[in-house]
Amino acid sequence: MSENTIPEVDVSAENPISDNWVWVGPHRPPSPRALFDLMTSQWQVGEPDTAVHPAATHSARRREALSALFPGQVLVIPTGNLKVRANDTDYNFRAGTDFFYLTGCHEPDAVLVLTPNDTGHDATLYVPERRDHRTHEFYTDARYGELWVGPRRGTKEASLYYKIAAADIAMLKTNLESSVAPILTLRGYDTSVDTLVPANELDSKLEQELSELRLVKDAFEIEQLQAAVNYTVKGFEDVVRALSVAVGRGERVIEGIFNLRARVEGNDVGYNTIAASGSNATILHWMRNDGEVRMGDLLLLDAGVECDNLYTADVTRTLPINGTFSPAQRNLYEIVLRAQEAGIAAVKPGAKFLDPNEAAMQVLAEGLYELGILKDAPEVSLRKDKQSYRRYTLHGVSHMLGLDVHDCAHARDDQYYFGELKEGFVLTVEPGIYFQPNDLTVPEEYRGIGVRIEDDILVTATGAKNLSAGLPRDPDEIEAWMKKLWADGVPALGL
Ligand code: GLY
Ligand code: MN
Repeated sequence: MSENTIPEVDVSAENPISDNWVWVGPHRPPSPRALFDLMTSQWQVGEPDTAVHPAATHSARRREALSALFPGQVLVIPTGNLKVRANDTDYNFRAGTDFFYLTGCHEPDAVLVLTPNDTGHDATLYVPERRDHRTHEFYTDARYGELWVGPRRGTKEASLYYKIAAADIAMLKTNLESSVAPILTLRGYDTSVDTLVPANELDSKLEQELSELRLVKDAFEIEQLQAAVNYTVKGFEDVVRALSVAVGRGERVIEGIFNLRARVEGNDVGYNTIAASGSNATILHWMRNDGEVRMGDLLLLDAGVECDNLYTADVTRTLPINGTFSPAQRNLYEIVLRAQEAGIAAVKPGAKFLDPNEAAMQVLAEGLYELGILKDAPEVSLRKDKQSYRRYTLHGVSHMLGLDVHDCAHARDDQYYFGELKEGFVLTVEPGIYFQPNDLTVPEEYRGIGVRIEDDILVTATGAKNLSAGLPRDPDEIEAWMKKLWADGVPALGL
């Protein structure tokens, strides 16, 4: 038999390695064993990196706070898995928020387990072992093999970097099955974990307590949110610099420019960029961004950079595309600005979460009435049994902000929606007025105009700090800022 005669292949998914062949998956030719041996030998082995995750001590403190809430119970918090985008390509992975909050780990398939001990809990981070040169997946597995997708942290590396005990994810099933303590699980992230651990009626309490722990931001989180906002400010400047390119080419240019800044400075955008030009600004979550950009219209840009530590900004500005507000645009803009200022002024510790909303809606209702568009007097329109102003204001004024753009979503109402603001909370204040292009209750000159102004506000010991004050809000200042950016002549991203 010559060496070019293919001998019989005797490997399969069930029997992946034989004397002569290695099975590398369906629709791919098996590899000769000799090549497999060649590919898994003679690689230099480095020492693991000794760097420590910047939030490691914060993550440990957060685990202790969670531990104190669930004495005697095992807590299982998965991050989730890669999700298929199409066939054999995946979406970029984004860690589960609560898992990330407690570990700082941004790799798929990992699970945090807190096991009760005499004084609290032992924390173990379960991760898949590396698919490095010691395994045939190293070059046969395009999804996980390190020759394909780069190294990731196995147990040894994860333990050093995240400062936590780590174990092979292959041990998770055995270890949980041997547990005698009740097990609570954060469900909906990892189907294999959901299947492994029976549902417990207290599972939702775990989700709720995690959301409530995340309400107060620690110093590291505030620093990260400020960084995310600062990158976002740069992204807005990039968009203004590129506006003349977007005119005639469309909203995709605006989305692309902002998202490029997000990817250059951080992990990604924290939510789909809303690049809403003209009457698209009256659609609250306009994310298709396939409309035209025309001189004389407004651009409503609602966008946030998510930094590498996954905290996101959430900022909206409404800008005149030609650099100057028309009288009708300015009238509306000034009402929304006054409403936002009233909302921000209501943010302080001890105030109700809904106080900024109430303050802003009062101003919006008054402004709409003065314009003659709202037919009910404000005191009538604002009545609980009436609420006619909402035809034009559409949404509430605030939500919490943090790792998620709509953060702490599982907190109880009495801690969040009907609760009080506390030092360390970060929330948006984002009133808007939206006149649909076909709204017969609105004079024609105002139809198709949407204005929203959104800032990210930290509750301090005595009041509030606007983290996004780096972007102008006053209409004169916006016009001057746009003109200055254009006069500077620097291209977007300095490219
Ligand atoms: N930035 C989008 C929202 O807050 O809904
Ligand atoms: Mn928002």
